[in-house]
Amino acid sequence: MPETTSTRPLRILSGIQPSGQLTIGNYLGALKQWVQLQDDYECYYCIVDMHAITVPREPAELRASTRMTAALYLACGIRPERATIFVQSHVSAHAELAWILGCLTPMGWLNRMTQFKDKAAKQQAESVSAGLFTYPTLMAADILLYQANLVPVGDDQRQHLELTRDLAQRFNSQYGETFTVPEGFFPKAGARIMGLDNPLVKMSKSETSDYHAVYMLDEPDQIKRKIMRAVTDSGNSIYFTDDPEKAGVNNLLTIYQAFTDETKEAIEARFAGKGYAELKKAVAEVVVEGLRPIQARYRELTAESDLIDQVLMQGAAKARLVANTTLNTVRERIGFLAAADRA
Ligand code: TRP
Repeated sequence: MPETTSTRPLRILSGIQPSGQLTIGNYLGALKQWVQLQDDYECYYCIVDMHAITVPREPAELRASTRMTAALYLACGIRPERATIFVQSHVSAHAELAWILGCLTPMGWLNRMTQFKDKAAKQQAESVSAGLFTYPTLMAADILLYQANLVPVGDDQRQHLELTRDLAQRFNSQYGETFTVPEGFFPKAGARIMGLDNPLVKMSKSETSDYHAVYMLDEPDQIKRKIMRAVTDSGNSIYFTDDPEKAGVNNLLTIYQAFTDETKEAIEARFAGKGYAELKKAVAEVVVEGLRPIQARYRELTAESDLIDQVLMQGAAKARLVANTTLNTVRERIGFLAAADRA
């Protein structure tokens, strides 16, 4: 972890797209860490709805998903007194800085982004939006506006984070020190949860197949059914491994470990000589029990009519203060004429 000479606590920013229901991959790979980080860092946790519209979305679904994501942040234990929880589109500085950064970003940098290539390949070439292409400049704006020191993200975001660092350095060298150059903060190996139906791809909330993901709000029966159907292999031994042949078993063990925080050795010993059905039953059990308190809290939070909206309103107010301070410096540095009526 980098040292700082300043007295303010290190800042963290991260975000999740409201693009459907959150999965146990989002929980184990992101939210669970975020809860731990809020005690030691100044944390900004964003719901990145502007990223979500880089592919077509149904407005009502986007709205519902944004609220649900916010409620799940809270249900997992993120406390608004400690961490700032806000919706990206509520802070217009994100769009503004993204434009400015876009003008500093060579097309060649964006052309190299593998996530763009992957996502674009899933759509008709003519319908791929310019927003999907410039997605990384918006993500850079999210991070740089808050002068974040650390950005907890999954491995799939490494390239976007590199681009953010490159942009911060480019801006700083052209216009003078303005942005903190952020570092990625990658969860320890193990928190990467794969699809139950295809353990070679990351578990994704936008995958539509019924047996791909366990959602955080799934009923116990659904969870059991999905895990019992998880793809394994034709063998019968249970151990942690990088062997792609056994990716399904490794994934189940990883889920088990992430929910129980037991050591790999203890888990392997527990399942030595057992069959895959027994492994799946045990995994389903720890997932159901691990999600139970979160689901209960979620129901409480969403039963109070405008609690979520209130949290988001206060979060946006706090976020705007920080974001607008950075944006004002940026405007001045690049030579935008100060607006006489702007505070
Ligand atoms: N691109 C990230 C993802 O899909 C989401 C994201 C948007 C993000 N802005 C961010 C993550 C800023 C960290 C920081 O996972």
